[in-house]
Amino acid sequence: MCGIVGYAGENGAYPFLIQGLKRLEYRGYDSAGLAISGQTLHVHKCKGRVSDLENHVIAKDLGGSVGIAHTRWATHGEPNDINAHPHCSMNGHFALVHNGIIENYAELKIDLTRNGFDFQSDTDTEVLVNLIEFFYGDGSEMSSEMAIRMALSKVVGAYGIAVICTEEKDQLIVARRGSPLVIGIGQGEYFVASDATPVIGYTNNVIYLNDNDLAIISKGSLTIKTMEDKPAFFQISRVDRTIGEIEKGDFAHFMLKEIFEQPKTIEDTFRGRVSADRNSITLGGLLDVFPKITEAKRIILIGCGTSWHAALVGEYLIETYARIPVEVEYASEFRYRNPILSSGDVVIAISQSGETSDTLVALRMAKERGATILGICNVVGSSIARETDAGVYTHAGIEIGVASTKAFTAQLTVLTLFALKLAFARGELAQGLYTELIRELADIPAKITTILAGHLKIRDIALKYKDAANALYLGRGALFPVALEGALKLKEISYLHAEGYAAGEMKHGPIALVDDNLPVVVVSPRDHYYEKIVSNIQEVKARKGNIIAVVTEGDLTLKEMVQDVFEIPDSHPAVTPLLAIIPLQLFSYYMAVSRGCDVDQPRNLAKSVTVE
Ligand code: G6P
Repeated sequence: MCGIVGYAGENGAYPFLIQGLKRLEYRGYDSAGLAISGQTLHVHKCKGRVSDLENHVIAKDLGGSVGIAHTRWATHGEPNDINAHPHCSMNGHFALVHNGIIENYAELKIDLTRNGFDFQSDTDTEVLVNLIEFFYGDGSEMSSEMAIRMALSKVVGAYGIAVICTEEKDQLIVARRGSPLVIGIGQGEYFVASDATPVIGYTNNVIYLNDNDLAIISKGSLTIKTMEDKPAFFQISRVDRTIGEIEKGDFAHFMLKEIFEQPKTIEDTFRGRVSADRNSITLGGLLDVFPKITEAKRIILIGCGTSWHAALVGEYLIETYARIPVEVEYASEFRYRNPILSSGDVVIAISQSGETSDTLVALRMAKERGATILGICNVVGSSIARETDAGVYTHAGIEIGVASTKAFTAQLTVLTLFALKLAFARGELAQGLYTELIRELADIPAKITTILAGHLKIRDIALKYKDAANALYLGRGALFPVALEGALKLKEISYLHAEGYAAGEMKHGPIALVDDNLPVVVVSPRDHYYEKIVSNIQEVKARKGNIIAVVTEGDLTLKEMVQDVFEIPDSHPAVTPLLAIIPLQLFSYYMAVSRGCDVDQPRNLAKSVTVE
């Protein structure tokens, strides 16, 4: 949520800043801006995309080798030129970019106004930059670092900030509490970013700044301190990503590329975790805590959005096979509702980014209350990955499309591995079925490849329904969360109202919506719910609803009963969610494209939600 980049080095700052913003644009895209310390301070910003900023700065002076830049997802104040970052302090000493929310900004603003400060924008960020200026005064008694430290001590809320000061031109100061910041270490130059994506191709060495730390960066030096001005602990980590991973290649959109990557990403997720003879599963990240997990009284899965849907599938898998009670909670609800937790509980956060604020804070609360906390994250080195007792990375690679696809199937893969391993360790699963299910999982990439090969048929079906105003998605068992995820995908990128429902619940309300204009997507492969869901299909059919059914290949009965089918290969129900979601991802993609929507940057959404 909001992307920040910064540069201090021997070269011009602009090329890295603008390239970095393009790579971070998935974090927010309502306005963008930059500030570069040259002979004077150059500040340019405008409403719109990074490409609008690029056009806006043509022929402007962009000289200078220290700079900051920002792509915004609005929290305070509408997206316009004035509210765009960077924000400058009233007397012009400071320019600042910010990710997060200053919760006490209103009272700070009143105090500053009493002290003669004026504000141009509606943002909390402008309050922070002026608070720094307030402490700094004319600079005669205080360094910019000291003023930033003092201002941050007054702030309630979350921030990742990068600040430049006109009086200390060669220096860039960054600080974080709650919003991630990464510092890339180059040859005589440093790169700052909200995540590691912008530094790929510039350096492999990065430092993930810890919460409540502050870094003072200049061309040849980097100092990291705590907010209390003590030396901070930090580690240099390696980022081994390639440029190819962050480019679209031959695909029209990142989302389509990521959908098509799934056979490979699922393979990457179980690579090294499943023995060659497919007889056993190793989850290295959980080795130390596994005995504790097998004894858990309860497992609580928390997450937001798509990750919450993965958690719901996880609940079915863990309860069915490992026979441990599972609860699934929205992180945003869990953290505020004073949950009863004890040392027998294992709380697992599921998060693609590993930075979602609600999930992170919920996890910290669970830790304080004595639970064992684990993470299932995609982004290596992310806050959740670092703060948990142990965890499993999903290894789906960088996901750029705002609508999550390959991260979801990687989460399902990890949850399946986890549930099966746990079930076997607890003696709930015999070796025969354990091996059979591992093999079923290993067959998934090839089966997904078959579904993807039929993408044009799915496109044609989407074209038929592109003018629908609403859609209903139905499923049962572990395929109910798949229906929820299918509906979410459609909402996110096509702006169609879509609702996911447990098929058995349809008659308690949603059936009132069914008429000959309503597409009803039913996830109905051959499993032990089949007869029941066929009855639900009949109920929709009797009311003239248009049914699109996800069916097992060769299911002629349903093919004849419904308007359209998405066929998926036959599979064991434990792994069917991994197949059933693929046609629904493609369907929403083609619906969005045919409706002229911006698939990779849907309106109002952000990839990583680091505010509450
Ligand atoms: C945002 C994204 C969703 C994502 C959710 C949770 O809303 O747009 O795609 O599912 O955050 O993100 P996380 O990184 O925690 O999985």
